[in-house]
Amino acid sequence: MRKKDRLLEDVYRYRKAVVLLAAAESGLFEYLIENATVTGKETARHFGWEQRGVEILLNALCASGYLTKKQDRYRIAPGFTNIFSLQEFSLLKEWLHHEWRLLNRWIYLPEVLQTGKPRREPQKKNVQRNHRNFILSMAHREKENLAILLRSIDLQGCSHLLDLGGGPGLFAAALAEKYPELKATVFDTPGTRALALRFFRQSPAKSRLKFKGGNFLTDPLGKGYDAALLSSILHIYSPRDNRELLARTHQAMNPGGKIIIRDFLLNPQKTGPLIGTLFAVNMLINTEQGNAYSFKEIKGWLAGAGFKNISRRPLEGRMLLIEALK
Ligand SMILES: C[S@@+](CC[C@H](N)C(=O)[O-])C[C@H]1O[C@@H](n2cnc3c(N)ncnc32)[C@H](O)[C@@H]1O
Repeated sequence: MRKKDRLLEDVYRYRKAVVLLAAAESGLFEYLIENATVTGKETARHFGWEQRGVEILLNALCASGYLTKKQDRYRIAPGFTNIFSLQEFSLLKEWLHHEWRLLNRWIYLPEVLQTGKPRREPQKKNVQRNHRNFILSMAHREKENLAILLRSIDLQGCSHLLDLGGGPGLFAAALAEKYPELKATVFDTPGTRALALRFFRQSPAKSRLKFKGGNFLTDPLGKGYDAALLSSILHIYSPRDNRELLARTHQAMNPGGKIIIRDFLLNPQKTGPLIGTLFAVNMLINTEQGNAYSFKEIKGWLAGAGFKNISRRPLEGRMLLIEALK
């Protein structure tokens, strides 16, 4: 491919993403799930939209592979009927909405470069609803990654896991279900409590699951843990905060305890992989000090906090695991 064609292809990619996200935002997928086949005219009437726009969007969704069209009727493409089912779509929709909100900040990247400050939403409205959306979109991602995590983490012989920034607690619940002797404490912001407890109630291990609300950088973490999980946490914070967090985790753990970090890891020069470098841009736009880090950096922080036997291994999917012992 000509270099210029590659460049154009990269630029055009956003259009496909926006079509998909706009369809999800507008409730189009629920309408298609409920009605099996629809025409552009019916859809326009249902939503009170212009038929021209509706048909343009539906046709683009066909070209993207999400829908098929026979004569003038559209339906969800056979390969996507599982994903676009009412049950599956409820959490996926939260994640798509989260990405929609991110997209609306990404376009301010030039401004972020100038100010060096994250892009804030103009008014502090919908704070609770946005936090709920963030946590539920985490739940969607955790659900997707559960099987990989369960295959990759060994907590045999551990009795108490601290899941720092455990969000909705799906990982903690699944690990407690896998290890019948394991108690798990999710430490997250107080605003996350209600959603985590909702997921805990659905778990057969609910009697061994606890939620502790607070700021893990400043509030007491508790004591006596022999395992700690930090999944998608270090990228939110600066090297200084991460050193502090790892030192506090070390203090909270029993000797011999195992710390497990799951995150994007960059190569030593921080020029790849692409997914990790783009994630760093996401942290630039959305956090005060967040970034994506290399194994060397995280290993240095772990060693500084007193952890030993530091190792890393790739996980299926996009992230890596780092393990170390107190
Ligand atoms: C990116 S999510 C990761 C959730 C989950 N561990 C996972 O891997 O999907 C980060 C989580 O950390 C929590 N968090 C971030 N900073 C925190 C802090 N200072 N104290 C407590 N929780 C925090 C957020 O509320 C959120 O649930």
